[in-house]
Order: sequence, then structure tokens, then C-alpha cells
Amino acid sequence: MIQFFDAPVLGIESSCDETSAAVTVGNKVLSNVVSSQADLHRKYGGVIPELASRAHVEAMIPVITEALQTANMKIGDIGAIAVTNRPGLIGALSVGVSASKALAWAHKIPLIGVHHLEGHLLSVFANQDVPPKLPAIALIVSGGHTEVVLVSGIGDYKILVETLDDAAGEAFDKSARLLGLPSASGIEVQRAAIGANPKRYSLPIALPGDDAHFSFSGLKTAVLRLVEREGESLNKNDAAASVQHAIVEALVTKTIRAAQSVGCHSIWVVGGVSANESLRTKMKSACDSIGASLFVPDFQFCTDNAAMIALAGSARLAKGDRSDFDLDCLPNNPL
Ligand code: KG4
Ligand code: ZN
Repeated sequence: MIQFFDAPVLGIESSCDETSAAVTVGNKVLSNVVSSQADLHRKYGGVIPELASRAHVEAMIPVITEALQTANMKIGDIGAIAVTNRPGLIGALSVGVSASKALAWAHKIPLIGVHHLEGHLLSVFANQDVPPKLPAIALIVSGGHTEVVLVSGIGDYKILVETLDDAAGEAFDKSARLLGLPSASGIEVQRAAIGANPKRYSLPIALPGDDAHFSFSGLKTAVLRLVEREGESLNKNDAAASVQHAIVEALVTKTIRAAQSVGCHSIWVVGGVSANESLRTKMKSACDSIGASLFVPDFQFCTDNAAMIALAGSARLAKGDRSDFDLDCLPNNPL
């Protein structure tokens, strides 16, 4: 059973290209404001760290103000501040961490630094009346990470499956770009795949016999070859459906095998790619077929957001963890 902090928590997230602030009480999310920089970075084809930091500086206080207003609270009502301090873009993280230190110091309230992936993990608790069961097998699947983790408690994580190269989100994004979809993101692949034929093009599902690893770089190369080979005659919708099929199959198969190997009947899917409808549907039927329960966050808690950071911080605070004012930002940090 996971306990949460007994006072309102203000969560702050700025690890990449979303500035976000949220207020939670227990596992209830009172507000979750996300200001995305996607438009700013689109023309460069990727996140430009320097631009991201500056945009966080601009957005941070307005986003915090809106999160407090929506929650119908003043800063004086907040009992603690939780902030992503690792891993992520160092300049981007520094903006959220500096703002958090200033608020915690001025209002004499506890501060807790949160691991971004622990945030994604705990996002399954957001607003759930029936708390997700532990121990659990969690598939963390985002733009930077693809891991299957055995979760036995807060901070008690064992990685069972990891990627040898690209993350699944990266594979979605790069495929979207290669197919010339409106933007390089997984949601465009999902959109293009609606009603299309996933069997039209055969794309590799890597490492079928290796239960400890994912690999998605071969898929990227296969999509590039497909685009070159088919040229003008490529059916983009069928290609998108085929990409989605290859990624989702790998994710579902290896997650289910990991759950079976440890005899776990609670499966969580978290991170940006957990918003994918095909992944949610296929994981649900795979869980049903082995008698496991599936827990996925609401869509607003799948991609980067501060509610998940507030929840993870809240669980850490309830255990007695606190950060000092010399809290640092770390670009790379395993879960
Ligand atoms: O968790 P997240 O917001 O940021 C990271 O921590 O990386 O995940 C972003 C990733 C991107 O690769 C994005 O394309 C992917 O999640 N994503 C999706 C969908 N929505 C977001 N991928 C597939 N289908 C979606 N519906
Ligand atoms: Zn994330």
C-alpha cells in the first residue's frame, strides 16, 4: 500500500519541453497545467536545449499561478514542493529546481527532488479510487525510455527488460518523420493508422527470443528502406499502421513474458507512449488472457506533466524523504 503526504503538494516539471505545475492532495489531482513548447521546437526537428530553458523561464511563474488558481489555493496552503531534478536537460531542469527552492525557502516548507521516471511510474495512482496493486510489472515507455520494471514498493525497482538502442517513443517519432507525417510524433502515427492495414508492409519485431531486451533501431532502418523502395506508391496510412503494429507487438509480448516470469498479476503501462490506443487495447486483451489486471493512467497523465511529479514526491515525503537546498540537477540517472 502506498501512502501519500498529508498536505497539499505543488509539483513542478521542466525536464524537457513541457513546463508544468500541479497541485495534489493524497492521490487526487486538483490541477495539472501543462504549457508545451512543441511549436517552438518543431521547425528544428528536435528539442533545442537553450531555447527550452528560456521558454521554461518565461512560462514557469504563470504556469504555477494557474495551477494554484485552478486548485483554488494560495501558495500558503501548500505543504510541500516536489520537483523533477533528474534525468533531463540540465538547463531545463535548473529552471524548475530554482523556482522550487525559492518557493520552499520563502514559505518554509519541505522540498523533494523527484526522478522523472518515478513520476511516470506513480502516474497510475492519479485520481484512482481503486489503487493499482503491488507488486507490479510496469512498462515505462516514453520518448527517452523503454523499460519493464518490477515495482515492489517506493524506491524498490528491478529492471527486467531494457532497450539496447532507441526508445519506443523515439521509434514512433522517427518513423513519423520518415513517413512525412504532419509532425514527428507518435500521435500522428496513431492518427494515420486508424482504419489502415497493419499487415501491408512487413516490418521487423526485434529480438523475439531475448526476454531481457528491446531493440527499435532496426525498425527505423527498415522504415527508411521502405520509404526509399516504395517512393510515391507508398501508402502512408498502411505504413503507419505497420510501424505501430511492430512497436506495440514488441512492447506487449515482452511485458507479458516478464509478468509471467515473476508470476505477477498487476501490470502498469506508463509514459508518453502509454497514450497509444492500440497499445492500451492490445495490452488489455493480453492481460485478460493471463488473468492479470491492467492499470494505465488517464491520457492527461501519460505525457510529461507535473501531477505525476507531485504524486511521486508526495509518496517520498510520506516515507520521510526530504531534499536539502543544495539539491542538484542530473542529466543522466538510472531509476
Ligand atoms: O513521457 P513523454 O511525454 O516524454 C518523455 O519523457 O520522453 O513521452 C513522449 C513520447 C514521444 O515519443 C511521443 O511521440 C510519444 O510519447 N507519444 C505517443 C503517443 N502520444 C505520445 N506515441 C504513440 N502514440 C501516442 N498516442
Ligand atoms: Zn517523460
